Amino acid sequence: MNKPIIAPSVLSANFANLQADFEMLNNSEAEYIHIDVMDGVFVPNISFGFPLIQAMRKLSSKFFDVHLMIVEPDKYIETFKEAGAENLTIHYEASTHLHRTIQRIHLAGMKAGVAINPHTAVNLLEDTIADIDLVCLMSVNPGFGGQKFIENTYDKTSRLKDLILKKNAKTLIEIDGGVSLQNAKKLLDSGADILVAGNTVFNSEDPLQTIHQLKNMLK
Ligand code: DX5
Ligand code: ZN
Repeated sequence: MNKPIIAPSVLSANFANLQADFEMLNNSEAEYIHIDVMDGVFVPNISFGFPLIQAMRKLSSKFFDVHLMIVEPDKYIETFKEAGAENLTIHYEASTHLHRTIQRIHLAGMKAGVAINPHTAVNLLEDTIADIDLVCLMSVNPGFGGQKFIENTYDKTSRLKDLILKKNAKTLIEIDGGVSLQNAKKLLDSGADILVAGNTVFNSEDPLQTIHQLKNMLK
């Protein structure tokens, strides 16, 4: 089994000193930086927008994995690209024409991710999975960092993995919410490829070591 991709979520970073946290990330084994955008409509919280992502872009050359928890994501695809996004994940629940949105993200020169909420069944992705680069399985209800992991996610991960194999797709499975040193191994055994971790990384006494442990979970 391959080592997982680690994607620290900067929602839990120290916004008064982003430079220090980004320095840590740059020196870490994390390949992705997970960036959560919330609009206060799709989710009951507001995070940040373009100016901050542009500022972050100057602090790191790591892969920017932008997770949009917003309604009408189509309006902003190109703007996120210009701000520095390399993967753009939109929510299944916020998309009326999912296939078109995926096409437009690709056309803008980004990888396309689709996030599904805990209540959304993986088989709803059956007809689009081959076009999706990454499925973000929400293992908490989106909106906040530091929430409790939903146990049904293990089963959901293996069902999504089956679907990907059945369709001969290359889609990666990303787990987002409540990922910890305790549940990471079981998630990887279930088929996860990417682990998002906010609280677990940024509230650790030694974030670099925590990222290292997540990265080497399978050893
Ligand atoms: C939740 C966000 C997550 C969040 C994860 O809506 O999408 O990316 O930052 O934070 P933790 O790892 O603390 O649950
Ligand atoms: Zn996220």
